[in-house]
Amino acid sequence: MSPTENLQRVRVGPAADFPEGHQAAVEVDGVGVLVVCYEGQFYALRNNCSHQDYPLLGGEVNMGRITCQKHGAKFELATGKAKTLPAVKPVKLYRTEVEDGVVYVAPL
Ligand code: FES
Repeated sequence: MSPTENLQRVRVGPAADFPEGHQAAVEVDGVGVLVVCYEGQFYALRNNCSHQDYPLLGGEVNMGRITCQKHGAKFELATGKAKTLPAVKPVKLYRTEVEDGVVYVAPL
């Protein structure tokens, strides 16, 4: 078993309370994680821009990317990759699961 398999997944809430475009922040192992519903899929990324220490929560989402409100860097929801400057490093990606209508987040 890999070390990550021992880590608990975190319950985000009912998928029904998570409409298209909704965002929420949860903690996974003491780290703030942003959960986004985009085009019917759930995505989870570390809730910190990789440019400076600034939360991504509340950033505009379009074209599968979330925009940091501080300086405008864009990150791809599916990969965490930085797609525009001033960020160059990715943000950590988390796994999302929906089970019995409830959304969960876990380390990858
Ligand atoms: S802190 Fe996010 S782009 Fe600068």
